[in-house]
Amino acid sequence: MLTGKRVLLIIGGGIAAYKSLDLIRKLRGQAASVRCILTAGGRQFVTPLSAASLSGDKVYTELFDLTDEAEMGHIQLSRDADLLVVAPATADLMAKMAHGLADDLATTALLATDKPVLIAPAMNVRMWQHAATRRNLATLRGDGVMVIGPNEGDMACGEYGPGRMAEPEEILAAITAALAPTARPLSGLRALVTSGPTHEPIDPVRYIANRSSGKQGHAIAAALAMLGAETVLVSGPVHEATPPGVAIRKVETACEMLEACKGAGRFDIAVCAAAVADWRVESQSGRKIKKRHDGGAPKLVLTENPDILLSLSQNNASRPRLVIGFAAETNDVITHAREKRTRKGCDWIVANDVSPETGIMGGDFNTVHLLTGEGLENWPPMSKTDVAARLAQRIAEHFAVG
Ligand code: C5P
Repeated sequence: MLTGKRVLLIIGGGIAAYKSLDLIRKLRGQAASVRCILTAGGRQFVTPLSAASLSGDKVYTELFDLTDEAEMGHIQLSRDADLLVVAPATADLMAKMAHGLADDLATTALLATDKPVLIAPAMNVRMWQHAATRRNLATLRGDGVMVIGPNEGDMACGEYGPGRMAEPEEILAAITAALAPTARPLSGLRALVTSGPTHEPIDPVRYIANRSSGKQGHAIAAALAMLGAETVLVSGPVHEATPPGVAIRKVETACEMLEACKGAGRFDIAVCAAAVADWRVESQSGRKIKKRHDGGAPKLVLTENPDILLSLSQNNASRPRLVIGFAAETNDVITHAREKRTRKGCDWIVANDVSPETGIMGGDFNTVHLLTGEGLENWPPMSKTDVAARLAQRIAEHFAVG
């Protein structure tokens, strides 16, 4: 139930606009209040009168309507809502939103809002697949805009493919997930997260390690568990507390980490955030290696560690439905991330610059780029907790649509 929740529904100009009328009915059925803005294009497909009749409220259309401004300023209109929904979100509306244009009431309300925004794209398949729309979609996602659909199917223009607006029930479910704080969209799914560094022993007292703190990986496990996923966290040695509701498997080495991942059952989601050591000492000494009195140093022969992400991404029956890797780089972050996504066979890559001057390694903040099959999203700088929450939300959206 959405009792008392206020939705500002922006109806763009597409044939799918008729479905938005049904959405209004469904939202009212859940006891939400709905206020509508119709764009000029939207008014070609549905009338303000039908939207007003179904919403039981005034419908807004013009930016410079003095009567409306006196009653309810356009800023107030967007601030008054708990959620803004754009359905159908046309290619043009998405482009305007991505670029911050505000040349009519709908786009002004979208730019002026401080509330969450959900879009339900609908357009011709070629428009949806056009590089410009891909870029705009990635920008919008990077800005935190939630996306539902589009679905694949026959289109009004006679073509077939992705571009049909999500059905009103699907949009309603996305609205409910966005508005209900207790929503647990990942319940019923199992998630595996690797986190922290690994320690590769040289002898009983020495080891090879790296600067990973485990903060980002642990935050991701916490965020996935919060959204209802049954979460197993396989962690190398860290000082982070185990997040509530998360099952922990503590390991030291890369080989142990792989074993723990393989032994923890089947997963729907795998997020490999651990900074796994690439090499281990080929034959570690059972005794402490003594310092030589002649001044010479021992030679360490290294051998490659198993690649956990690569192994989890392998295409077999037990592959998680969504495998996400990390790319921590100190230069050419995006190029390396693209290459890594292909080489490892994972679905998404979270890339970040870990040059010492960024302070990311061990710090509380992160600036990441999310590379998916759809494109590249540049997320603004935010805390590692916020990166985790947003990634978990993106994962939830992925499973809601998939
Ligand atoms: O191979 P590279 O370290 O560049 O790739 C980083 C990604 O691969 C991270 O997601 C990391 O968790 C994962 N990885 C792994 N096992 C390894 C090395 C990296 O799972 N042995």
